Amino acid sequence: MHYLRLCILFFCSACVTSKRFNLQVEDFKSNRHRQMQRSEASKPMNRTLLLFKNDVVRLQFCLQRNSFVRVEDLRYSNDGPSDEVSFVLDGQYIGKHTTVVDTNFGQGWNSFHSTGAIGEGKLLPPGRHEINLTVTESDPWGVEVDLVNVDVSDELLDYSHFLCILYCFDDIRYEDIHFTVKDSVPSARFVQNSTLTTCTEMDNVKIDIYHDTATDFMITANLPRYRSFSNQKAPNFDGCNLASPYWIFENVSLSPVRPEIQTSKALMTFSGSGYRVQIVITFSLDMLTPTKEVDDRMIGSVLRIRIPHVKDANVSVNVRYKETNDAWNDLGQINFTSEVTERTWNIPDKTWAYNGANMIHLVVMPNKQDVVIESIRLDRRPTKDRQIHIYDDDDIVIEGLDLDFWYLAPHTMIINRMDNNQSYQDIDVLIVYSKIPWGEGYSQVFVIYQDGTTKLQPVTPHGLDWVPFGSSVIIGQTTISNGRPHAFISRIDLDPYRQYIKLVFNDTSSCILRLETYYTQTKLLIKECIFKKDRQTHPVLTFRSMWEADGNADVDHITVNGDRSRHIVSGWEQLYGTTAVFFRKCISKHNTLSPDIKIHILGKNETVL
Ligand SMILES: *[C@@H]1O[C@H](CO)[C@@H](O)[C@H](O)[C@H]1NC(C)=O
Ligand SMILES: *[C@@H]1O[C@H](CO)[C@@H](O)[C@H](O)[C@H]1NC(C)=O
Ligand SMILES: *[C@@H]1O[C@H](CO)[C@@H](O)[C@H](O)[C@H]1NC(C)=O
Ligand SMILES: *[C@@H]1O[C@H](CO)[C@@H](O)[C@H](O)[C@H]1NC(C)=O
Ligand SMILES: *[C@@H]1O[C@H](CO)[C@@H](O)[C@H](O)[C@H]1NC(C)=O
Ligand SMILES: *[C@@H]1O[C@H](CO)[C@@H](O)[C@H](O)[C@H]1NC(C)=O
Ligand SMILES: *[C@@H]1O[C@H](CO)[C@@H](O)[C@H](O)[C@H]1NC(C)=O
Ligand SMILES: *[C@@H]1O[C@H](CO)[C@@H](O)[C@H](O)[C@H]1NC(C)=O
Ligand SMILES: *[C@@H]1O[C@H](CO)[C@@H](O)[C@H](O)[C@H]1NC(C)=O
Repeated sequence: MHYLRLCILFFCSACVTSKRFNLQVEDFKSNRHRQMQRSEASKPMNRTLLLFKNDVVRLQFCLQRNSFVRVEDLRYSNDGPSDEVSFVLDGQYIGKHTTVVDTNFGQGWNSFHSTGAIGEGKLLPPGRHEINLTVTESDPWGVEVDLVNVDVSDELLDYSHFLCILYCFDDIRYEDIHFTVKDSVPSARFVQNSTLTTCTEMDNVKIDIYHDTATDFMITANLPRYRSFSNQKAPNFDGCNLASPYWIFENVSLSPVRPEIQTSKALMTFSGSGYRVQIVITFSLDMLTPTKEVDDRMIGSVLRIRIPHVKDANVSVNVRYKETNDAWNDLGQINFTSEVTERTWNIPDKTWAYNGANMIHLVVMPNKQDVVIESIRLDRRPTKDRQIHIYDDDDIVIEGLDLDFWYLAPHTMIINRMDNNQSYQDIDVLIVYSKIPWGEGYSQVFVIYQDGTTKLQPVTPHGLDWVPFGSSVIIGQTTISNGRPHAFISRIDLDPYRQYIKLVFNDTSSCILRLETYYTQTKLLIKECIFKKDRQTHPVLTFRSMWEADGNADVDHITVNGDRSRHIVSGWEQLYGTTAVFFRKCISKHNTLSPDIKIHILGKNETVL
């Protein structure tokens, strides 16, 4: 018994990273508690609670997983004789502390003390818990409590969830899928390959799905099983590092001997002579977030320089930049005059290196005048996509998209319409819209990108204008370049009358798709796949999504074969089964109504539609 307990404690402190939460005691006050203002109390509110004998503060918190919880500290102040504070966790006494004696004519109230850890860590299940902080003894002047620090062995726990602000449904389950699992179908291997992110517009969740033999699959998109009528759908780039601008320098007075300028994003150095000032701008794109659709590190850019107040003599500027192959590309000389005070230069897609230094080199000839460069900045170039109409009838509309910037360019897809032999070049995305049964218009139910990325969702629910896609599945055997997994599609054969879609990959692999849309779900049958790459080393499907924190994610759990659900990014490395559901338990502020995704490995000749 003793030994076992030692093991658990050892495990707790050595193997699990814990996270510390500060509970401002005044946030948990009830009507009878008195708040005090103390300049040395914890920021930002500088408040404490003044407590007397038998006063209780109920500190409620929530857990997402089985976690060790330990009270690490109580911060308090006292003036006068000592008092006694006891801690009860979920009804069980865990420890107490006797406060220091501090008699300093009232000054003691602004001098704070720490108790250190109270009691031992406790293993608690997910859900709501309560620490009761009770003053069991006190002098007539009481004691002031400021802060309680709690350590939780769950590094993924988010502050809002810890404070029970986030709502998670513990009872969302997909155990019903168990009945559809067929013993005759060998299991697929689901391999965890996710990373963490602060940017909600980046796909950080990646689960590779390997299978030795399967040729048929079914992907189903349902409205989320949690119940919410909120439809948050705007992208949120707050935690992302974007290229608008890559960097900017303002009001730079020109001189060959002035000191360098270093910003968080770039370095500007000066040399040369008063006649020819050389400026070198060095910058790295390491910190940029590769967002879902357009990777800012790859897209072309615009260099913009403003030099107002040029006199009669011209200011000549020569621009060169270093390409990925280390060659210098010279963009020539251009003049700033009293009329033309702003100039731009376009730098093509895929110029900059993702890692390491990029350089822009300027030679400025001020022509015997004082020059102040009002601004010099590098931005991502603007983009404009082109829509190509491919097919429509009463039920569906099929459209192609030629993206202005596509990271696999110049590779694109050819779409062949088999019914009339018409073909469409330069397509990067194919989109299928389905008629909304209860009204005018169509809603997007299926999208496939040239890299195999597929997104599905049911038709827009009644009463809403549109619902965002969330998670995606890459169909086909992926390879990775620049950190992006892709399965290169070179051609799609399409027969809208037979609802026939055939994907032909660059490596001559192929799959046939059939799309079925109902008002509650959209199903995609993927059948007769022929894969040319090694199935041991190349997944056949790849699940991609975003998880920043519970409550800010497009997916937070996975269940395989209806077993106990696992958190999407932690606590497992490989899972085996024939059916997986990717879903959310916690109401998310990101893409709130984007669908739950089910992936089903079908046996030979298994019919499910
Ligand atoms: C808290 O105290 C700090 C100085 O310790 C002061 O700058 C700040 O304004 C105070 N905040 C409030 C809300 O009183
Ligand atoms: C905490 O204290 C309150 C008030 O005394 C009591 O009602 C509640 O049951 C206590 N909670 C626990 C978990 O002991
Ligand atoms: C994902 O897979 C790649 C390639 O197999 C591997 O190098 C990487 O470490 C994996 N990442 C995670 C988070 O498992
Ligand atoms: C640069 O100078 C302009 C014009 O004098 C002024 O409006 C602007 O605020 C300055 N910018 C910075 C960053 O100092
Ligand atoms: C720029 O101005 C200089 C004189 O300052 C002139 O010699 C040169 O031809 C001009 N260059 C262009 C491209 O107009
Ligand atoms: C200044 O440059 C403009 C064109 O860039 C050119 O037409 C003009 O002649 C130049 N002025 C002088 C004084 O060289
Ligand atoms: C399409 O082309 C094929 C072969 O070139 C031909 O057999 C078929 O009749 C054509 N179909 C139509 C609708 O033109
Ligand atoms: C596509 O396939 C061709 C021929 O097999 C090969 O040369 C080419 O490198 C492939 N392209 C990509 C991007 O994989
Ligand atoms: C699948 O169906 C085909 C033809 O209907 C049949 O020849 C084959 O044996 C079946 N395969 C399995 C595994 O049942």
